[in-house]
Amino acid sequence: MPMTRRDFGILLRGAAALCAAGALSGPALGRPVRKTPYGAALALADLKADPRLGEAIAATCDAIVAVTEMKWSDLRPRPGEFAFDKADELAAFARVNNLAMRGHTLVWYAVMPDWTNQIANAAEAERVLTEHIETVMARYRGTVRSWDVVNEAIPDAVRGVGDRRPTIWSRHLGERYLPLAFKIAARTDPAAELVLNEYDVEFGDTRCRTKRAAFRNLVHQLLDAGAPLHAVGLQCHLRGGMPVDREGLAAFVAEMRGLGLKCLVTELDVIDQKLPGPAAALDQAVASQVDAVLSAATAGGPLDMLMTWGLSDRYSWIPYSYPRRDGLPNRPLPLDRDFRRKPFMDVIDQFTS
Ligand code: G3I
Repeated sequence: MPMTRRDFGILLRGAAALCAAGALSGPALGRPVRKTPYGAALALADLKADPRLGEAIAATCDAIVAVTEMKWSDLRPRPGEFAFDKADELAAFARVNNLAMRGHTLVWYAVMPDWTNQIANAAEAERVLTEHIETVMARYRGTVRSWDVVNEAIPDAVRGVGDRRPTIWSRHLGERYLPLAFKIAARTDPAAELVLNEYDVEFGDTRCRTKRAAFRNLVHQLLDAGAPLHAVGLQCHLRGGMPVDREGLAAFVAEMRGLGLKCLVTELDVIDQKLPGPAAALDQAVASQVDAVLSAATAGGPLDMLMTWGLSDRYSWIPYSYPRRDGLPNRPLPLDRDFRRKPFMDVIDQFTS
C-alpha cells in the first residue's frame, strides 16, 4: 500500500517526536554498533511506496545516499533554478532517523539536463559549475558531510592513464574543471569530506587494470594540483563471475592511504546476471564475491565507510539493466525482496563490526 504524502509527513513528524524524546538514535533503534559506518542508497519514491524500506534502513544503516535526488537531473529543471523538494525529504528522513547522509553527486557526465548543452563558453561553464556546487553544498551543510564531488571521470574504453571522460565541463574548461570542482567544494563546506568516485577499478582484466591506473593517475594529478581531495570512492558494482583483483586492489588502497586519503566503498552490489541460480547458490556466490572485494579493500585496515547501492533486492537498478536470462529474480543486495537477511548481510556485518 503506497505511503501517501500525509502518511509520510506523519512518519517524519512521529520520528521527529521520538527523536526529540531521545528515543530514536542509532544504537537505541536496535541498529548494530559498527566500527565502519554502513549505509545504503535510497530513492524517495521507494521510501514512500513501501514503509518496510524506511524501517529496514533505520534498523540496519548508519547512513543513506540519494539514488537520484541530488543529481543534476533532479535538482536542476532550468537554468538558475533548483528543485530541492525531493532531496530535502530524504535529508529530513536522514535527520529524524539519526542517519548520516552522503551527497551524490556534484559533477558527473551523466543525466545532465538538456539546458546545460546551451552553455556557450568557459566563463559561463565556470559560473554555472560554481553556482551549482556552492548552492547545493551550502543547503545541506551539516547534514551531508561527505560528497562525491566528481563521479566517473575515467572513460569505460580507457586506453591510457591520461584518459579522461569527456563532459560538458571538459568541453569548455578542459581538465581544469576537475581540481576546480574540489576547490569550490572545499571553500563552500570546509568540514565536508570530498571524494573522487569511480567504478570498474576492482577487477583484474586488462580494461579494469588500465582504468584503475588512470584513476590512480587522476588522484596524483589532483593532489599535485593542490586539489582538496580527501578520499577515493570505490563504487564496487561487482560483476558476478568476474574475479576481483584482490592483490591489485589491496595495493591500490594501500597507495591511496599512503597518500593520506580515506577509502570508501560507495555503491556495493553484485550484478548477478551471469551467476548460477537457484537462490541459495546465487546468494552464496554473491556473498563470496562481496567477501573478496571487502577482504582486498580492508587488507590494510578497515574502510572509512561502506555503502551498498540499495538495501533490498526489491529496490535495485540491476533488474532493469542486467535482468537474469533464466528469468529468476536478481538477488544483488544484502536483504531479499521481503527484507530478509541474506549471506551478503553477514559479510557486511563481518567487515564493519
Ligand atoms: O522516477 C522516475 C519515474 O517516475 C519514471 O516513470 C521513470 C521512467 O522515466 O524514470 C524514473 O526515474 C529513473 C530513476 O533512476 C528512478 O530511480 C530515471 O529515469 C533513471 O535515469 C534513474 O537511473 C538511475 C541512474 O543512476 C541515473 O541517475 C538509477 O536508478 C541509479 O541506480 C543509477 O545509479 C548510478 C550511480 O548514480 C553512479 N554509479 C552507477 C549507478 C548505477 O548505474
